[in-house]
Amino acid sequence: MQSASHITWQSSTLNRQERSRRNGHNSCTLWFTGLSGSGKSTLAFALEQELYALGKAVYVLDGDNIRHGLNRDLGFTPEDRKENIRRIGEVSKLLVDAGLIVLSAFISPHEEDREMVRQLFAPEDFIEIYVKCSLEECERRDPKGLYKKARSGEIPNFTGISAGYDIPRSPSIVMDTEELSVEDSVQLLIDYLDQKGILNLKS
Ligand code: ADX
Repeated sequence: MQSASHITWQSSTLNRQERSRRNGHNSCTLWFTGLSGSGKSTLAFALEQELYALGKAVYVLDGDNIRHGLNRDLGFTPEDRKENIRRIGEVSKLLVDAGLIVLSAFISPHEEDREMVRQLFAPEDFIEIYVKCSLEECERRDPKGLYKKARSGEIPNFTGISAGYDIPRSPSIVMDTEELSVEDSVQLLIDYLDQKGILNLKS
């Protein structure tokens, strides 16, 4: 791939603060990382529903969905996963600039790739959430029947079976989905966002 040259950054006359003022809340990215079947999408969509009901501008970027369109050219080699995460990091950044609370749910198994995304943001704009669930439980849930296929060798490079997952070293939040209900998890995340001054719930 050849990089573009002779390109100049064009600034909008609107800034993020103005967009946030109109929305009545701040924007940020909540980055959900965890094994397939750990509950990332479930949590992200449940939180989206709740934030939407509270009148907040929110949008979910979900691994399976993004791989149907924007990233349909990518597979699951380490290089492709890196490019998948890089693109989503950039999309998340754009949506944060547009004033949204972005919920990005991707396995994002490599610490190095998650770090690359973190570097795109100011520290307060990137919140890493480790969606914790044992491999045994993910495999028991197997909501899409993929672990079964991975075990039989039908799906190569499957995270947790034939490809690695780096447990986040210092996530902002750990959500243990074997312990907490979806409702309780959502409430914890709402409280966290409010404490961080993102939601303006009291005003
Ligand atoms: S990531 O590793 O690049 O972050 P991403 O979140 O986009 O992965 O996509 C993961 C989803 O793709 C899984 O939830 C699962 O439904 C599907 N999938 C298909 N093949 C694989 C594989 N080899 N490893 C993991 N997930 C896979």
